[in-house]
Amino acid sequence: MSELVLSAKHIFKTYKLPSGSIKVLNDFSLDIKTGEHVAIVGKSGSGKSTALHILGTLDKPDKCSDTIINFASVGDLTKLSENRKALIRAEKIGFVFQSYHLMPEMNIVDNVALPNMALKKRNPFAKDRAVALLEAVGLGNRLEHKPLELSGGEQQRVAVARALINSPELILADEPTGNLDPATGEAILDVLFSLSCKLPQIAGEEKAPPALLIVTHTQQIAEKCDRILNLEKGILKQ
Ligand SMILES: Nc1ncnc2c1ncn2[C@@H]1O[C@H](COP(=O)(O)OP(=O)(O)OP(=O)(O)O)[C@@H](O)[C@H]1O
Ligand SMILES: [Mg+2]
Repeated sequence: MSELVLSAKHIFKTYKLPSGSIKVLNDFSLDIKTGEHVAIVGKSGSGKSTALHILGTLDKPDKCSDTIINFASVGDLTKLSENRKALIRAEKIGFVFQSYHLMPEMNIVDNVALPNMALKKRNPFAKDRAVALLEAVGLGNRLEHKPLELSGGEQQRVAVARALINSPELILADEPTGNLDPATGEAILDVLFSLSCKLPQIAGEEKAPPALLIVTHTQQIAEKCDRILNLEKGILKQ
């Protein structure tokens, strides 16, 4: 459990706009251990989504020779080409967003199996695994349904299953319960936590469960994590 899955150091991010620059991250650093659950809290506009997008290679930090985003099994993500980063995202990182981001024209099995299509070596049993994950999140009786035929909480369960389909090492969740009522939100978090821990069994692999990095405004959710960090003035504080 003590090995680091991610070690990010000296991340800076400034948005340059015609009206002036906004410095959002200012020497942001974060280490996450294998299987660890970390919550990031902070005021609206403090840069939580920006940080998650950079850690997940969806956005780039400012150019700075000191910046390192070391993904243990890969190396420094900031040095990789866009194609390689896309592959790493598909293979090693699961994403859960506040607004689900599901494909409306596909049924939920195909939605969950979709990240498998981005792999270099696709798993021929991805659909079977998608079905197993959907059963595990309580949607085994809705497999033929499309996302818009489901409630918000059900759609987020699909997104959780999708985040786990490729057995990632890290899950990045940006306010995963932000659009849900408190009870539904808590149920989603319980599913995310328990399924992450059970993933090696479901996938029949010896891998460690994924680490979770969750941005949340909800104290109860943050308290379910091993550590709570506050993003303030561009850096994380205990
Ligand atoms: N693409 C962008 N262009 C310019 N400014 C941006 C961009 N994305 C974010 N910002 C600015 O960066 C700051 C941090 O935004 P970010 O979305 O990371 O905050 P957040 O902590 O996730 O907020 P919230 O809790 O409301 O989701 C904000 O001031 C925002 O206006
Ligand atoms: Mg945000």
